[in-house]
Amino acid sequence: MAVLIDGKKISTQIKDECKEKAAALKVAGTEVTLAVIQVGNDPASSVYVRNKKKACEYIGIRSLAYELPEETTETELLDLIKELNGRSDVHGILVQLPVPKHIDADKVILTIAPEKDVDGFHPMNVGALCTGEKGFVSCTPAGIIQLLKRSGVEIDGKECVVIGRSNIVGKPMSLLLLRENATVTIAHSHTAHLKEVAKRADILIAAVGKPKMINHEYIKQGAVVIDVGIHRNAENKLCGDVDFDDVEPICSAITPVPGGVGPMTIAMLMHNCLESVSLQK
Ligand code: GUN
Repeated sequence: MAVLIDGKKISTQIKDECKEKAAALKVAGTEVTLAVIQVGNDPASSVYVRNKKKACEYIGIRSLAYELPEETTETELLDLIKELNGRSDVHGILVQLPVPKHIDADKVILTIAPEKDVDGFHPMNVGALCTGEKGFVSCTPAGIIQLLKRSGVEIDGKECVVIGRSNIVGKPMSLLLLRENATVTIAHSHTAHLKEVAKRADILIAAVGKPKMINHEYIKQGAVVIDVGIHRNAENKLCGDVDFDDVEPICSAITPVPGGVGPMTIAMLMHNCLESVSLQK
């Protein structure tokens, strides 16, 4: 039987560590503050934003909520970001994605001051990750590294295969694994012989965005399997990119969906908010 990697438990540990840091910063005179901007009312985004606010409350981070109407212009949004960039009482700025079609998401990301970009999406932070300098790291891949480390999974020298090459998960994930001295392969929808490539992995990261696509044919006996996907199936039940029941018997450790990678993203966002204070000093 595979070990279940418990993202709920590990994320709570991280949030409790953040709580202590936030309290210490408060005693020292800094109330850590995150500005969360949502444009429009995409229901999934509203759930994410609500959960981020709840996490802030739990930890003792002040959150400023900006719920802007769908019709907000790009200029209005960029002006708000610039104003928040200039406020010394605001440490982190997050614009929930996706933004409505008439707003250029790349421009939004570029406008957030890199030292307040707690999502780690700004090209300066992506570049810093690439060269090993200080900066914010995208929360989901940073959370996966914590899941592996805190579960005692050795990364150094291991074969890691990341399936997916998004800017938010696949690319930063590969760089983080490389930083931990893994041998990394990035696979994607054009990869030839994907099953054979995936089967090389000691650690497989599935971020394909297709429900239950990864079955036992992609898994080497004893591999560690990290499932980044989150989908609702026909019975409205949550499932991941991995066919859990098919894969679990042959792997050594696996993340469940829900309760695996999901809770880690917000925990790492909270971690980044606290980091932002020292990055701004
Ligand atoms: N939309 C989906 N995931 C994310 C995230 O991690 N950050 C932001 N800003 N938007 C998202």
